[in-house]
Amino acid sequence: MHILVTAGPTREHMDPVRFISNRSTGRMGFAIAQRAAEAGHTVTLIAGPVTQPTPPGVARVDVVSARDMLQAVTSRLEHADALVMCAAVADWRPRETSGVKLKKQIMSATLELVPNPDILATIKPLKHNRIFVGFAAETGDPIPEAHRKLADKGLDMIVANDVSQPDAGFEVETNRVTLIPRAGKIQALPLLSKLEVAARIVAWIEAAAASAH
Ligand code: PMT
Repeated sequence: MHILVTAGPTREHMDPVRFISNRSTGRMGFAIAQRAAEAGHTVTLIAGPVTQPTPPGVARVDVVSARDMLQAVTSRLEHADALVMCAAVADWRPRETSGVKLKKQIMSATLELVPNPDILATIKPLKHNRIFVGFAAETGDPIPEAHRKLADKGLDMIVANDVSQPDAGFEVETNRVTLIPRAGKIQALPLLSKLEVAARIVAWIEAAAASAH
């Protein structure tokens, strides 16, 4: 299969040195790309600004903003059999972006934001028989929101990720997730390394692809 994976945060710049972003390091998405390549798949990894090394055998495309990521995903979707949206895409960006560093004296104390495009919602009409997997990062019980995003974003499976625990979610080497498919068995996984979580997600995609044929 050809698997497209997104990872890391996006950065939404106000000027060349200031931006809005989040704590994603790319670890979870890079682990998925690594595991998928180890399993023999063709992997394209679209990464926000992170310091992770590219896993062997993975084609990497670096992007900065949500709009860059949308463009990179859309232009590569045609050749993909599956998409895993692990990236923590910024939902908002500053209305104005300056090409030069803004002087403190002329900056307003209020930052005006505009919504970014929702990548999964935008590409939904291009899904056809591709397998789409999303993540739901939540503080508190992630399951109800995950079910809502699974339906709203037209996904085949969502990975519900409670990011309020110190050993799971952003930045750390381990994760605790629940795999919620559109149809089929919900799997609440124990605390695992991100590579082990990645192996479960890749195995789920392989099984879903096999059952579709
Ligand atoms: O990178 P790490 O430090 O290893 O951390 C891993 C992680 C916590 C970032 C990862 O496990 C995770 O949960 N990623 C999803 C983070 C997120 O943005 O979730 P969300 O609930 O806000 O978004 C729901 C889904 O919509 C996601 O698949 C997201 O990629 C997608 N989305 C979100 C916003 C947007 N504008 N377009 C999108 O397509």
